[in-house]
Amino acid sequence: MGNDAPAGTVTNVHDLDLPEIGLLDADLDHDEVAERYRRLAAEHWLVRTPLGFAVLRYDDTVAVLRDKRWHSASGRIAEMMGVDDPDFLARRRVSILSAEGDEHTRLRRLVGQAFSPRAADRLRPFMREVVNGLVDPVAPTGRADIAVDVCEPYPIPIICELLGAPKEDWQLFSRWAGDVLRVFNATVREELPIIMAAQDELDEYTRDLIAERRSRPADDLITALIAAEEEGDRLSTDELVMMVEAVIVGGTDTTRNQLGCTVALFADHPDQWRLLADQPDLAPRAVEESMRYFGAIRGTGRFASTDIVYRDVLFPAGTLVSPSFSTSNHDPAAFDQPDTFDITRPAPDRPQLTFGSGIHYCLGAALARAELQEALPILARRMPDLAVDGAITWKPSTVGIFGPERLPVTFTPTP
Ligand code: HEM
Repeated sequence: MGNDAPAGTVTNVHDLDLPEIGLLDADLDHDEVAERYRRLAAEHWLVRTPLGFAVLRYDDTVAVLRDKRWHSASGRIAEMMGVDDPDFLARRRVSILSAEGDEHTRLRRLVGQAFSPRAADRLRPFMREVVNGLVDPVAPTGRADIAVDVCEPYPIPIICELLGAPKEDWQLFSRWAGDVLRVFNATVREELPIIMAAQDELDEYTRDLIAERRSRPADDLITALIAAEEEGDRLSTDELVMMVEAVIVGGTDTTRNQLGCTVALFADHPDQWRLLADQPDLAPRAVEESMRYFGAIRGTGRFASTDIVYRDVLFPAGTLVSPSFSTSNHDPAAFDQPDTFDITRPAPDRPQLTFGSGIHYCLGAALARAELQEALPILARRMPDLAVDGAITWKPSTVGIFGPERLPVTFTPTP
């Protein structure tokens, strides 16, 4: 077990003798990072980090995420990274990702229906149209940069269609989403002006969109959220703005990077890619297996809202822990042969953790699954012999949402 406290006695986590992992170096190769973390996870369930502690194994990650005394750290991360700009700190509001307790339960109850698998399924034909539209210009050339030509643009029209936002605003959405998400990067301090400018623009845009839908309801998510009502309770305008922003910010960079990680992974496993091209009905399993094997989000953050004792370790109130999805998804106690990528793997008893677990489990999971399930078989069918052409350029390891920046490929051209 490596770092358990002596049985029966409770030891303060700060007094435990734990290995420490430093802040990730932007130049580190991502395979090396993954390998280093997995080696650590084989020895220890808990390690020290510059900001707190990381929980590396499946059962412990799930236990932390399901224990409501651990609160989301998403609203505090910037501060913990040393951001002290009073303007930035003053504008922080409750978002669904940082809300806890009754407030969070109420929000999830009000918006749950709008994010159901059925609501996502309605967009599947549109998703296929978008992917095919992106592949059409590159298919006859036999070359593409999958990250730039397909992954980057793919989620934007879908989120716009979902929200009912006009097509001409796609580019704006894409930029705002990317810029606001810099708040999860280790480089947040330098990027603060960009983040704040994007937040302001997004805020103004969202308020206008909501005002427009209030006067002219349509068949879209914003109208559904405006109408959402439970026992006489409704979302306030500020809550509506927050939800729409959560969708724009949470639903774009995540999906595009996950698709990029997934295609890169398949490029490394051509037999699995051919299997998917031949059997498109394997898509749902391919999505779960690729998100398990190589998730774009490698972990999250929680802080102890009160003193918490877990596995005979005392985590004093305020302690920050990072439940690690990437190592938990390769935990041999949870998955048989975890380092084998196999899309025919029978559905495991335990779900992959890249969508999180517990009350903050990804609200857009049904939509993201549908997007990936529709995109992958089309790409596999239209680029069956896809091979990486040169080298993949990865985002720096310091980003919160990881994936390829450039993924140049060749394949047999098709008309
Ligand atoms: C492959 C793509 C995606 C991945 C890997 C992903 C991952 C996650 C994870 C790990 C969380 C939980 C974070 C935590 O516990 O701290 C989360 C929450 C969330 N996600 Fe996603 N997500 C994806 C796509 C989407 C999409 C498409 C949307 C919107 C349409 C979305 C909206 C949200 C929202 C609103 C939350 C907050 C839920 C809450 O706190 O109750 N996500 N996502």
